[in-house]
Amino acid sequence: MNALPYVFLLVTLLANQSCGTLVVDYCVADFNYPSGPTGFPCKNPAKLTADDFVTSKMGIAGNTSNPFNAAVYLAIDTTFPAFNGLGISMGRLDLDVGGVIPAHTHRSSEVILVIEGTILAGFVDTNDTAFYKTLKKGDIMIFPPTLMHFQVNVGNTPALAFVSLNSANPGFQTITFSFTANNLPTEVVQKISLIDSAQIKKLKRMFGGTN
Ligand SMILES: *[C@@H]1O[C@H](CO)[C@@H](O)[C@H](O)[C@H]1NC(C)=O
Ligand SMILES: *[C@@H]1O[C@H](CO)[C@@H](O)[C@H](O)[C@H]1NC(C)=O
Repeated sequence: MNALPYVFLLVTLLANQSCGTLVVDYCVADFNYPSGPTGFPCKNPAKLTADDFVTSKMGIAGNTSNPFNAAVYLAIDTTFPAFNGLGISMGRLDLDVGGVIPAHTHRSSEVILVIEGTILAGFVDTNDTAFYKTLKKGDIMIFPPTLMHFQVNVGNTPALAFVSLNSANPGFQTITFSFTANNLPTEVVQKISLIDSAQIKKLKRMFGGTN
């Protein structure tokens, strides 16, 4: 696999969008303190080594044994503290045959680069216009900030893609989970979604919701 140059390019491009006027070179997260609107406080720079700026976790295939037949690994400030304060993050998407990254949103833009397989990817804008396309190896697609988007493996082989986002912690709000993986009462979800209550109850059981 010879994808790393592309991935590096993506991160660099997104970083250039979001860098303000920094007063430090870097700010590796110190988890002894809580995160605020701009991230975590910095670890003592005198104690940092090259290892603080490196992770190998993006090279590990995710476990796709779940209802979506897909796995997401996010390298964000909380999992890779070097991203703290830099306005960038990355993710790895593994999609088994038929696998789906369900409809979700982030508080940032996202760009996807397909490494292996065939992925139907798309987003819906605030005018409810849907933009979707079947992506193949080497394709990139942008998902603008906060818009609902998704990825589906429509090929006959497993698919692999990397994503880059212009937030050190972009959030991950999955529409189905928002409706069903909490204690929002079924009758309220029914009213605000027009989904049948039997279907809502089934999804609540699947995703650990109550009421
Ligand atoms: C993958 O996840 C499934 C379901 O949680 C689990 O049963 C299985 O042991 C996991 N496989 C690996 C290799 O971790
Ligand atoms: C909004 O969507 C409608 C179709 O539902 C389309 O006719 C119109 O061109 C769209 N407007 C914009 C600004 O995209």
